[in-house]
Amino acid sequence: MELYTIFGNPVSHSKSPLIHNSVFQKYAPNKRFTKTLLIDGSKLREVYQQLRISGASVTVPHKEIAYKVCDEVRGIAKKIGAVNCIVTEKGKLVGYNTDVYGFLDSISEWSDIEKVLIIGAGGTARALTIGFLERDWDITIVNRSEKRLENFREFPIKLYSWKDFEIANYDLVVNVTSAGLNDDSLPMDREVLEKVFQNSRYAVDVIYKDTPFLQLAKEIGLKVKDGSMMLIYQGVLANQLFTNNQIEKEKILKAMLEVYE
Ligand SMILES: NC(=O)c1ccc[n+]([C@@H]2O[C@H](COP(=O)([O-])OP(=O)(O)OC[C@H]3O[C@@H](n4cnc5c(N)ncnc54)[C@H](OP(=O)(O)O)[C@@H]3O)[C@@H](O)[C@H]2O)c1
Repeated sequence: MELYTIFGNPVSHSKSPLIHNSVFQKYAPNKRFTKTLLIDGSKLREVYQQLRISGASVTVPHKEIAYKVCDEVRGIAKKIGAVNCIVTEKGKLVGYNTDVYGFLDSISEWSDIEKVLIIGAGGTARALTIGFLERDWDITIVNRSEKRLENFREFPIKLYSWKDFEIANYDLVVNVTSAGLNDDSLPMDREVLEKVFQNSRYAVDVIYKDTPFLQLAKEIGLKVKDGSMMLIYQGVLANQLFTNNQIEKEKILKAMLEVYE
């Protein structure tokens, strides 16, 4: 039996075992996916080896440490500096980041995007910025405070805090804050957000459920998606790595969607 796990803290809510096991049961019955609560991220490599696993997903707050402990990091993860998927290859830990292309795959039917507003300036916002720049999208970031904007000065994008934000028109607005995760708050002042939405077409919240942000976007007539599709699509890409590209992407997606509510 080949074992896989997700490392996170907390991890009990994770749907990764559900979606990966759905694929494994159908197409790779020698593989099984579990969850592992990892409190001390500095132990990631040690625990990975003790568990004798063949691969892992990594979630909050361990993606940056995962990047550091891998023997090799490939693809866009190198630019992002964060790893959410590890595969053992010839005894080495090889790290990838499937979050960004998972996000992009989840909105692939919106093929006419050029201008994007990202609300929030944390780790996920940085990863998305790097992916969006690969597409040559025109990017604006607005964040509650000024401090975290410093992590974005290296990029050719517009940066605002709430204080100096100048509204423009956007194709896509993405909420990458945790506003709405455990409360009913919006990620920005309601009036400002209404004006933003009146000049936009699509809205995505990376939180896995319908949020006040998405409700307001729908009221104003935007097409919307929540973060569950990003979760599924990053999982599809991770599963392709876990199964060494032996299963077609469409089959993986179908098996995951069958079990995901
Ligand atoms: N769907 C998926 O697969 C997926 C993947 C990764 C992450 N996520 C979600 O993405 C969100 C952000 O994650 P992260 O790792 O980037 O977080 P992070 O690094 O902690 O950054 C949080 C950001 O949210 C802002 N913020 C927090 N509370 C806010 C509020 N009430 N109003 C306005 N802004 C607020 C912070 O602004 P300040 O700088 O002013 O504090 C900061 O910019 C989380 O909800 C996480 O669950 C989803």
